[in-house]
Amino acid sequence: MTTTTATPVLQARGLVKKYGNVTAINGADFDLYPGEVLAVVGDNGAGKSSLIKALAGALIPDQGEILMNGEKMNFRNTRDARAAGIETVYQDLAVIPALDIATNVFLGREVRRKGIMGSVFRRLDMPRMRSEASGHLADLKIGIKSVNQAVETLSGGQRQGVAVVRAAAFGRGVIIMDEPTAALGVKESGQVIDLIRSIRDRGIPVVLISHDMPHVFEVSDRIHVHRLGQRAGVIDPRERSMSEVVALMTGAERPSEAEQAGGVR
Ligand SMILES: Nc1ncnc2c1ncn2[C@@H]1O[C@H](COP(=O)(O)OP(=O)(O)O)[C@@H](O)[C@H]1O
Ligand SMILES: [Mg+2]
Repeated sequence: MTTTTATPVLQARGLVKKYGNVTAINGADFDLYPGEVLAVVGDNGAGKSSLIKALAGALIPDQGEILMNGEKMNFRNTRDARAAGIETVYQDLAVIPALDIATNVFLGREVRRKGIMGSVFRRLDMPRMRSEASGHLADLKIGIKSVNQAVETLSGGQRQGVAVVRAAAFGRGVIIMDEPTAALGVKESGQVIDLIRSIRDRGIPVVLISHDMPHVFEVSDRIHVHRLGQRAGVIDPRERSMSEVVALMTGAERPSEAEQAGGVR
């Protein structure tokens, strides 16, 4: 990696979030650079989900700041973050099994028909949503034959794919995925990893929270190690082994000074 002066797409400084006497985020920093896949790893309860919720507007930090492209943000909710280009696939999947794929992809952002049928009668433009959803699915090579089929007819990996496609379709700036392969089998996890690559290949940076070290090492450009509510360091996967990263996660080993400072780029 060469040293660059690139401005992070998404950045956090000194975030704090307390729930009563539990400190979920304890002065956390975060940097995501253009075009990279950044893995976020850490023990259960380290505060990974809380951190990404703050970045996605799902949680309002007590202290600290969030910046996009160097500009300070004030997300009041997930809608604000989405408007700024941040899409999130949450740990507990937000697809509705009984609805078809096209409807799921456009959930919360349905396309209305033109003219009075759309504006007054709120009729949906299903042909347009189906054709756009098909296009997005084809882009990501997820292998679903028809967007008219209900999500409940899909495998776990394909369902996850629909959630990822939805994020990819609307995420203009950043896509965050919290444990996207946790509930999936080997083959399906592989598909999600392929999706992450194809999103990055389209120039959109991805934040991947994962426990799966082989996946993390396979797909990520840098690894943010989270521990006790803070960023312990940022690791170059070409310089550290999986067992070293696990030791950094548990605190058995300390990151180098450069890693603590946010790593080399
Ligand atoms: N809404 C909440 N209310 C109370 N405690 C919470 C809440 N969300 C998270 N926590 C606590 O904050 C800590 C960090 O949780 P979390 O961010 O989910 O960690 P991770 O995703 O790394 O497992 C844990 O101790 C968890 O119990
Ligand atoms: Mg979590």
